[in-house]
Amino acid sequence: MKISVIGSGYVGLVTGACFSEFGYEVVCIDKDKKKIELLKKNKIPIYEPGLGDLVIKNTNANYLSFSSNLKSIRGSKIIFIAVGTPTARRGDGEADLKYVFQVCKQLSKLIDKNDKPIIVTKSTVPIGTGKEIIRLFQNLCPKLKYEVDYNIASNPEFLREGSAIEDFLRPDRVVCGVANPQTEAILKELYRPLNLREAPVVFTDIESAELIKYASNAFLALKISFINEVADLCEKVGGNVQMVAKGMGLDNRIGSKFLHPGPGFGGSCFPKDTRALYASFKKNKLKSTLIKAVIDFNEDRKLKMVKKIKILLKSPYKQKKVAFLGVTFKPNTDDLRESPSLVIIPELNKIGVDIHAHDPAFNKSFEKIKQFKKVKWKKNIFDAVKGADMMLIHTEWNEYRGIDLEKIKKLLRNKVILDLRNIFNREELENMGYSYSSIGKK
Ligand code: UDX
Repeated sequence: MKISVIGSGYVGLVTGACFSEFGYEVVCIDKDKKKIELLKKNKIPIYEPGLGDLVIKNTNANYLSFSSNLKSIRGSKIIFIAVGTPTARRGDGEADLKYVFQVCKQLSKLIDKNDKPIIVTKSTVPIGTGKEIIRLFQNLCPKLKYEVDYNIASNPEFLREGSAIEDFLRPDRVVCGVANPQTEAILKELYRPLNLREAPVVFTDIESAELIKYASNAFLALKISFINEVADLCEKVGGNVQMVAKGMGLDNRIGSKFLHPGPGFGGSCFPKDTRALYASFKKNKLKSTLIKAVIDFNEDRKLKMVKKIKILLKSPYKQKKVAFLGVTFKPNTDDLRESPSLVIIPELNKIGVDIHAHDPAFNKSFEKIKQFKKVKWKKNIFDAVKGADMMLIHTEWNEYRGIDLEKIKKLLRNKVILDLRNIFNREELENMGYSYSSIGKK
């Protein structure tokens, strides 16, 4: 079975590489010729553990190829659309669908009726988009009798950065929104390799599938915000939020995942998808108090972290130095999108605080980020910590967990640690003579 994946960004590349791992013939297409040239040389433009090996293995085995020519879709049984749906520049946070529709228009000129491919959106698109795509094809190529000769489906991704390959190959579930039994049969066949792993493949109508993606992400964002709010109460009145989360999570109805408090959620999905879901409510003249609260709470959370840092640093702030460990929105990625650090660091710079930052995924592009223009980047943790008034853990990279705290103590000017991810044990650090603060503990 030949599969085309249009858009070789994060989602498209992982999807294409993983389907090729199942032995399908996959072509990943992108209009960015430079990116395709890199991929043809087995150079991976994104940071994702395991992806490089998968790409090399499957290109060598001729299961996976790359192209910048959309005509390469010819002969495909399934065409995935995996282009970006960023937040629109104007409006209330709705997703910008221009890349999705551009691809559909181009496809309408290229699709061969005899191939009868199904067109599947992997991109995160608001409820109703599938129907719009069907209308678009009906208008652009009426002779093809859309929905009869070939079909539209929705198959949202649930890939976490840093563990995307695992999430693809061992998913909690696969969701497919279809409009007829023929499409359902093709997608069942596509995901047959997952049967052995007993991954549930859920078939729904197209709208439900589109909404499952947004509702899942918004619910997880709500769960994180909820525990962050509980953490605030613990800090004020006592209790330990980690114990509270553990006690709550043992209830199967609640579950223990995504109950880790922190500086607020970031990344390419949660902030964008909560905004887009809220925009869908507004567009349809419905009130959404919960989703709006999650969005506002999370924005506010980053500023709350700044206040926390200021209290510990103590005024005057000028020339105070903070060793800022981890700037990415989470570990195992070099992604900075909507990372709380993008708000916290400039706010601290504004009051004269010096930021000496370290991140295991640091690369030259970090220096070009405008929010980081005053940051002094350090190659190792000890250089960042030397002479600092505080060591701050922003991202819970593994290498910070086992850090040599005796050595750090000698290097810090003030033995203050602020642990925004609760990776250390308070008692241990206090016994070592540190002044230790974390999240959700008085
Ligand atoms: C997310 C979804 O998990 C994935 O299913 C979806 O399709 C894409 O978006 P991702 O953005 O890669 O994945 O990261 P995720 O691991 O979900 O974390 C998102 C943010 O929430 C991070 O900033 C993380 O630090 C934060 N988070 C997560 C918490 O603060 N606490 C938690 O308990 C979990």
